[in-house]
Amino acid sequence: TAAQKGGFPHFMLKEIYEQPESLRNTITPRIVNSLPDFTEDGIDDEVFKNCENITVIACGTAMHAGIVGKAMIESELRIPVNVEIASEFRYKEPLINEKTLVIVTSQSGETIDTLEAMRLAKRCGSKVISIVNVKGSTIARESDYVLYTHAGPEIAVASTKAYSVQMAAMYLIGCRLGLVKGIYSEEQAKEFISKLLGTIPVIEETLLQADEVKTVANYIKMAPDAFFIGRGMDYTLSLEGALKLKEISYVHAEAYAAGELKHGTIALITENVPVIALATQPAVYEKMVSNIREVKARGAYVILISMGDEVTDTQICDKHIRIPKQDSLFTVFAAAVILQLIAYYTSDAKGLDVDKPRNLAKSVTVE
Ligand code: G6P
Repeated sequence: TAAQKGGFPHFMLKEIYEQPESLRNTITPRIVNSLPDFTEDGIDDEVFKNCENITVIACGTAMHAGIVGKAMIESELRIPVNVEIASEFRYKEPLINEKTLVIVTSQSGETIDTLEAMRLAKRCGSKVISIVNVKGSTIARESDYVLYTHAGPEIAVASTKAYSVQMAAMYLIGCRLGLVKGIYSEEQAKEFISKLLGTIPVIEETLLQADEVKTVANYIKMAPDAFFIGRGMDYTLSLEGALKLKEISYVHAEAYAAGELKHGTIALITENVPVIALATQPAVYEKMVSNIREVKARGAYVILISMGDEVTDTQICDKHIRIPKQDSLFTVFAAAVILQLIAYYTSDAKGLDVDKPRNLAKSVTVE
């Protein structure tokens, strides 16, 4: 009903706007003296001390949150992270053992492939921390430890706020792990936490650009295909951007590591194909700009998402959306909001049932 939607036309839009609150609710209870602390969650530091590598197991959007977590943990902590699609992991002989920390991510806590993959991981002797939104769900109950995300109920089939808090949970785990292993000093961990909290006002500011994003949707809605490109953290996020667009707008979308375009996908870039280019990572910004020039030269309609006020040749894009300046490790939170809005407005502009896309279910309990 309209009342449940809190004045928003769809649950998805309401949930997109709830992200600052969901993040606050998920992060702040785990901060004690400005440091990450899982005492209240009952997560024993032993699991972090013993961990030599990490395997994340999940499906769909939750798996994409794991891919972002991998990029962050590997670059910050130099600990190898493997991300496994639950339905693949289940049917192979897993390369994990008691030195592997397994992180199982699930909004519903009931996805059958994820649940069975977790049971297998436990049989292999790994300790399992689950990142789950629904309290008391099966995955939460059966895992060794649970880090509940506090997104509140997510009604729209397309996951938005649950994804943001899953990423935040990965960041909290990464920070605690770094601290326990002595990779981070207390000072460094405090700085990390303050930047993580800093993403909340940044998202609030980003949401003010919703009308700007809407104009882009009117273009994308006419396209049969769209491409999301990025490098590093931006690439990990583009996977979710493409999934979101496919799920609710039925525009075929693919995410590509920008440097890999030239090995095939660039053949599909022709006149007016929308390319959503994420360029929030200063270390590879120039490389991104040259990739963007390559697609632009082939007639692509380029939507550039970049950070802060870096001076860019305005010729390279058709639409420029900026997110506030911040540490490049944390841009995924604000950029995710832009990608969610792109998918939302495209679906709405096509007159589709945003909250209940065809063929999809909120929770998948079939194998
Ligand atoms: C379904 C939903 C997705 C979700 C996936 C995993 O496919 O439509 O939005 O990401 O399941 O769900 P989970 O509850 O395990 O996060």
